[in-house]
Amino acid sequence: MSVNWALPFDEKIVPENKRTLIPIESYQKLHKNTVANYREFWAGVASELDWFKRWDRILDDSNPPFYKWFPGGQLNASYLCLDRHIHTWRKNKLAIIWEGEPTENGAPTKIRKLTYQDLYRDVNRISYVLREKYGIRKGDTIGFYLPMIPEFPIFMLAAARLGACFTVIFSGFSADSLADRLVDADAKLLVTADGGRRRGNLIKLKEVADKASEKAACVKKIIVVRHTGNDVSMNRDRDAFLDDILEETPETVYVEPEPVRSEDPLYILHTSGTTGRPKGQVHDTGGYLTLLHATMRWVFDARDDDVYWCTADIGWVTGHSYIVFGPLMEGMTGLMYEGALEYPEPDRWVSIIERHGVNVLYTSPTAIRSFMKNGEEWVKKHDTSSVRLMHSVGEPINPEAFRWMHRHVGRDKIPFGSTWWMTETGGILVSHTPGLYMVPMKPGTNGLAILGIDADVVDDDGKGQKSLERGYLVIRNPWPGMPLTIHKDPDRYREVYWIKFPGSFYPGDYAVRDDDGYFWILGRADEVIKVAGHRLGTYELESALIQHRAVAEAAAVAVPDKLKGEVPVAFVILRAGQAPSEQLGRELNDWVREKVGPIASLKQIFFVSKLPKTRSAKIMRRVVQAVVAGKPIGDVTTLEDEASVDEVNRAFLDLKQEIESRTASRE
Ligand code: WTA
Repeated sequence: MSVNWALPFDEKIVPENKRTLIPIESYQKLHKNTVANYREFWAGVASELDWFKRWDRILDDSNPPFYKWFPGGQLNASYLCLDRHIHTWRKNKLAIIWEGEPTENGAPTKIRKLTYQDLYRDVNRISYVLREKYGIRKGDTIGFYLPMIPEFPIFMLAAARLGACFTVIFSGFSADSLADRLVDADAKLLVTADGGRRRGNLIKLKEVADKASEKAACVKKIIVVRHTGNDVSMNRDRDAFLDDILEETPETVYVEPEPVRSEDPLYILHTSGTTGRPKGQVHDTGGYLTLLHATMRWVFDARDDDVYWCTADIGWVTGHSYIVFGPLMEGMTGLMYEGALEYPEPDRWVSIIERHGVNVLYTSPTAIRSFMKNGEEWVKKHDTSSVRLMHSVGEPINPEAFRWMHRHVGRDKIPFGSTWWMTETGGILVSHTPGLYMVPMKPGTNGLAILGIDADVVDDDGKGQKSLERGYLVIRNPWPGMPLTIHKDPDRYREVYWIKFPGSFYPGDYAVRDDDGYFWILGRADEVIKVAGHRLGTYELESALIQHRAVAEAAAVAVPDKLKGEVPVAFVILRAGQAPSEQLGRELNDWVREKVGPIASLKQIFFVSKLPKTRSAKIMRRVVQAVVAGKPIGDVTTLEDEASVDEVNRAFLDLKQEIESRTASRE
């Protein structure tokens, strides 16, 4: 493939912290060295963690692609995040500053501050409850369906303390999506809350959890954290409120952190794709924490006097790695905010920065575009000069959003990067690393591959792509933080990530790279949709649609959206006897939201009489996408496997005509 990709930026920024600025050639040399000796390099990083037992080997690569990092080593994530700090001066340092969403008279109604000692005490108590009252042991899995409250990280750390595995389900997922994930992970206990708050609305998590557990027979018990105080129905044999349980639990207990093997799973987190059920990415303990330790220092320049704020939700991987394990392991003070960044007024997020003196900010392009839409006057109402470093994540950042944020919060001078990674990688792999060595930053790029990571851009045949030519991003060497496998489906792990370019990991993204080695990740090369940076599989949308009585067939594709980056639209073929109508469109949209969750809101539904298919009955998604995006068919013809250029063209024209004639008849 040879598409010349106009790079969105040409200027460079040299941030104010010039202390460690090095020429790009020096970084390249260093990088090359760490890649050539990546095992020893990562072992050096890993030795900075406190292990109960040192590893026997750095990497077990005897059964690729199922790599094991630091086999023989033993450690515990909760020990690294807590015990290590409470024996030092950090004991009384704030670990978490939590702010709730609702405000009264413009002032936050609720702020909770937890020191490392507080967190240590609470995690020990919860571990005790999990072990003594719920019989949770190493090898068990617990499901978490929680709002953004301190109990969320507390439960995650408590599970890890016992060596138990956990699986988090984002609170915007429906009962069906929750149930599927709980079943896949074999969760025997579910922890949820009476409710959550977002944009002033009450999210009735317990109701969803009840519905899900009807389907998820593996879930035997439910713990409910009282948060919003709304009434919830309780099944006496199955459910208990956390505060009731804690009343019968000693105030202070100590639970020995269970030594787990480096390759023991810390958690399972599902990603949705284009085919098949959500994939349970299984993350190990030793490798994962090693990558987080490295990236917290290199990318976020973790310092003891920082207040660090990652605006993600713990329901997604960004929250796992960069709200919970990363910052706590580094002994940082992390800010955790419950609700919507622009509620009740568009300056909520800046008021949070000012109130708590945030120094390091990690947010997303969607959030920035939305701040931008409200106008800079909201930013100017507050002092954001404490911010010394920013990064963005989740989707490519557009030049306007980058410049706006850099100007209005970054004062045109602080380091501001766009970190590339994904659920599968565990942590950041491509990024500017201002905490390590500073190379001149090119705005809007993702920066360079971090040390030890051999990233490349290749063509369809896996050959290195020329500078500035679009190709596929690949990672050529194993890295700590990589998945162990897909839960219960190792074949799929191999097929999805390791077959397209044998020997290399294929993330599924398009990218370009310039002569200096800076990457621009351009978006998904498959049909995964990124709504506001959240990953949404077309499979889930389509299978929800075809469960509706009126629908015979469905195809979901992404269309660009000014605010959210991308949003899904659906093409639907109705069953015989069903007629398209606006009301049916609305009904189908509600249906999908109900089945998948509120994040799966369809922007538009097109009723059609047929969908373009290949001879083996695969929907030609790129054709559908080209039609809906109003793009010429051009490149698509070479991209659809199994179909001739003629077939693709014909399918494209047919679908286009049908859409146009329907639109015309409505006008
Ligand atoms: C996209 C989120 C461009 C990419 C951590 C990837 C990005 C997917 C960036 C993973 C970035 C993430 N620039 N694209 N800085 N960061 N992506 O698993 O398409 O929710 O494959 O992980 O997000 O999404 P996931």
